Amino acid sequence: MTDITTARPFLDQHGRFAQLHGAGVLRIGDRFYAWGEDKSAGGTFAGIACYSSADLAAWRHEGTALAVGDGDLAPGRVVERPKVLRHPRTGQYVMYLHIDSADYADARVGFATSDDPAGPYTYRGSVRPLGHLSRDIGVYAEDGAGYLLSEDRDHGLHIYRLTEDLLGVEELVATTLGESGDHGYESPALVRVEGTYYLFGSDLTGWAANDNRYATAPSLAGPWSPWRRFAPAGSATYDSQISTIVPVEGSERTAYVYVGDRWLPEELERSLPVWLPIRIGGGQARLEWAGRWRVDVATGEVEVEPGEAEAVPGEAEAAEA
Ligand code: GAL
Repeated sequence: MTDITTARPFLDQHGRFAQLHGAGVLRIGDRFYAWGEDKSAGGTFAGIACYSSADLAAWRHEGTALAVGDGDLAPGRVVERPKVLRHPRTGQYVMYLHIDSADYADARVGFATSDDPAGPYTYRGSVRPLGHLSRDIGVYAEDGAGYLLSEDRDHGLHIYRLTEDLLGVEELVATTLGESGDHGYESPALVRVEGTYYLFGSDLTGWAANDNRYATAPSLAGPWSPWRRFAPAGSATYDSQISTIVPVEGSERTAYVYVGDRWLPEELERSLPVWLPIRIGGGQARLEWAGRWRVDVATGEVEVEPGEAEAVPGEAEAAEA
């Protein structure tokens, strides 16, 4: 079991900075696969990288899952937030992407498929879901159905049910607005814990971190609770933006891992992974700092290195707030 040192780069088997930005993660057999934005070209598309790990800490580069091409995938365009679902019947992997022009005017969701989780994925095109704008996305699967979470500046954060083949958007399930009431949250993630849905998101502040929020509901259709913080006020979610939440189902319990990005806008390629254990249950979600920690993926137990739960960046501001 390898330790995760929070806000330090993951290095792959070649010692290279893992391009796990805006990552999506899926457990497949005894490994975790993660797909991230390769940010070696800065803000525009340089490929989607795939990595795999037995413990969410030591990552092996599996190659380029989706390469730069033409059309939506041309150099100079924006391709962000790769998220993957596995079709429960065919076993096919479907990758979802935020597809955009460099000025973020296109606002579409793209689809790509592969029989191998690592790819190479074949690009299948992009849509505006039911005609709506779609920028940051997340995915969720339950009972054989797939769902797309998608931020739409005009209406809020949507949950859509995907078509049976997972390659299209079938219907709108719910739309939520954030605290201000005039926009929804972005970079959405969704988990269900003991019959309650927890929807996470970040406010719309670009590369700058903010106090991310979550809402809960008894069903995907709602009613969704008001949004509230899950990290200390003023910590800007420990200076990170949520990308996804990974359930780690073990023999003893299910651990949840918050996967976040500390974006470095001047040097996006070196943006830092802020991955932390997050406590979710009883209607509450709580993220606490852990400088060095590990998760036993067999049991679901999380261990924080003694003394490493202190020195929380952002806590001083939080105390003053
Ligand atoms: C954020 C979004 C990122 C990236 C960034 C560009 O709002 O979550 O994925 O698009 O804006 O400024």
